[in-house]
Amino acid sequence: MADTLTITDNRTGKTYELPVQDGTIRAMDLRQIKTGPDDFGLMTYDPAFMNTANCRSAITYIDGDKGILLYRGYPIEQLAENSDYLETAYLLLFGELPTATQLTGWRRDITMHTMLHENVKTFMQGYQYDAHPMGIFLSTVGALSTFNRDAKNIFDAKSRLLQTKRLIAKVPTIAAYAYRHSIGRPYNYPDNDLSFSGNFLNMLFKMTELKYQPNPVLARALDVLFILHADHEQNCSTSSMRNIGSSHVDPYSALAGAAAALYGPLHGGANEAVLRMLTEIGSVDRVPEFIKKVKSGEAQSRLMGFGHRVYKSYDPRAKVIKKIADLVFAVTGKNPLLEIALELERIALQDDYFVSRKLYPNVDFYSGLIYQAMGFPVEMFPVLFAIPRTAGWVAQWEEMLLDSEQKIARPRQIYTGAATRNYVPMERR
Ligand code: CMC
Repeated sequence: MADTLTITDNRTGKTYELPVQDGTIRAMDLRQIKTGPDDFGLMTYDPAFMNTANCRSAITYIDGDKGILLYRGYPIEQLAENSDYLETAYLLLFGELPTATQLTGWRRDITMHTMLHENVKTFMQGYQYDAHPMGIFLSTVGALSTFNRDAKNIFDAKSRLLQTKRLIAKVPTIAAYAYRHSIGRPYNYPDNDLSFSGNFLNMLFKMTELKYQPNPVLARALDVLFILHADHEQNCSTSSMRNIGSSHVDPYSALAGAAAALYGPLHGGANEAVLRMLTEIGSVDRVPEFIKKVKSGEAQSRLMGFGHRVYKSYDPRAKVIKKIADLVFAVTGKNPLLEIALELERIALQDDYFVSRKLYPNVDFYSGLIYQAMGFPVEMFPVLFAIPRTAGWVAQWEEMLLDSEQKIARPRQIYTGAATRNYVPMERR
């Protein structure tokens, strides 16, 4: 059998044979299908890119029906068990697990770039005391392009690598400063003796002690959460990173846009929304009433932390997170909202509304409970997502830049507005 698709255009009776490669046809191959010389040619209409592959990518693989997530071929469960965030970031960026020498060099390089220019502190002071830390985070990341003017040399591999290291190293510092700003405490400088996540906890929570000692269970739990959030193929923020980057802007500006996409409640803001939802439900006995509200579509309520565009089974990241939750709660004490979450999950997994729509808990359903138990305010949750996703964004940005098939992203539209008409002077309107 030929790997082709035969299309008959019933408007003209003409037949076309299009090649099928990797389960796709090229949308541009449809352009030849015309009703006459003045016809622009056939296009596809795909709002929200429900069925359009926008790139070839060798970074992350998801099988949504089977609940499989691989980074460069390695199952997420194995990375969560054996790796740490910096090693996983290396894997995502460079395609292979590092050797011992490469990993030591990578850790040293990231450590060397954790500090921020002092002027960053000065302009951060300008935010209102109650500014949302994600707003501070994304605008500060964008502002870094003004400190690193060499970042515009995006076709210089050395410059790209330098910006990559700077971004991965500096996002925890920006996040911690944003948090300290929101609670009115002095910013803590990085402590490079500590691990990536241990240092982050230090910058967030150090008070007057000379040396901050992160709790090893909490530092490891945070690191695993970072692994789980590091990449997720062509989601809303990653495709934003690619789209913005396709204009050849510097990576700080592109990453600010990706972080803005992540901020929304349907994406990285969902873990914040889950916590607000659980708090609003308030007690286990009110769960059935809430589920009823969701099913009736009342007040546009959704069961936050449930459902996914790609996963039509249990999100593999949610399974790992459920396990970590037990370890964290053994240190911090149980989050009282956990009972409500467990009851929501129990009811939803038996209810035909959720079962028939294949709605299962996603990564955000339990992560917020852990973050809250660790002492993070809910407003920090999307920021905690953005820190590790930086590795994925940058890996995808570089892959896009080096892909000879990519050009500036520019979708088409179906115009539904008025036909040409003449300007009407004010007195005749
Ligand atoms: N609660 C109740 N009903 C839902 C939910 C939900 N969480 N998610 C989807 N549905 C229903 C939806 O109403 C629709 O029903 P019907 O066919 O009767 O109209 C059906 O399921 C399909 O939903 P959809 O909106 O067409 O699905 P989508 O692929 O466009 O949306 C989603 C995916 C993640 C935006 C959505 O499931 C959602 O809003 N979930 C809650 C927010 C959330 O947890 N987001 C985090 C996603 S994972 C991490 C990340 O990407 O950042």
